Amino acid sequence: MASHEKDRTRDARPPGTGRATTRRREPPVFELGRGWRKTVLVAHVVSAGAWIGIDVIVAVLVLSGRFATTDAVRGLAYQALATFVVWPMLASALVCLATGLVLGLGTRWGLLRYWWVAVKLVLNLVLCVLIVLALQPGMDEVGAYGRDLPAGAAAPPTIDNLFFPPAVSLTALTFATVLAVAKPWGRLRRDRSGSTRR
Ligand code: HEM
Repeated sequence: MASHEKDRTRDARPPGTGRATTRRREPPVFELGRGWRKTVLVAHVVSAGAWIGIDVIVAVLVLSGRFATTDAVRGLAYQALATFVVWPMLASALVCLATGLVLGLGTRWGLLRYWWVAVKLVLNLVLCVLIVLALQPGMDEVGAYGRDLPAGAAAPPTIDNLFFPPAVSLTALTFATVLAVAKPWGRLRRDRSGSTRR
């Protein structure tokens, strides 16, 4: 049994009293059974891993589009980027979000109880919005440039900005993974004993 699952109560000594009191943990919104919790956690970790993997592919394609030695390879890299990447990335981001929501609501972690969960929620939402509003709309232009590049077409401004999505997303997702593993910073609000710790 994981350490955070051990029991729903634990002793806490309010500062200055020297007496142990029993602090009751807030219950989850719904109880996720052990089997379901593990299944959803596997889906969550796999989708987060897939998302990171797709970001690495984006980085490789962007770097190939910029630095490959022949125009034919550069053009193919941009076409592959425009054709294959955005929807799988959005799908993995949404699965990660949905499974994260189920894990938060179905366990004592909650969605807005612990900083590490709340920050991951914000990161996931912001990244989804960026995929839809900042990355996807430029993809037609990137694909067209990839097709026309071997014929000597000039690069549109979208091409210069392509370094940002993989850099921002990989940084944010690595940070989210560190948060998931380290679970730092305790609670958002004080509990009844006045503590913000777990
Ligand atoms: C931003 C992308 C995210 C990444 C890369 C990520 C990654 C992870 C990883 C690797 C774990 C396993 C940690 C462990 O078992 O030690 C995990 C667990 C967890 N994640 Fe996420 N996560 C993300 C988004 C979210 C979101 C949006 C939520 C909630 C709204 C969330 C809620 C949780 C919860 C509650 C657990 C603990 C589940 C448990 O122990 O039963 N995550 N996450």
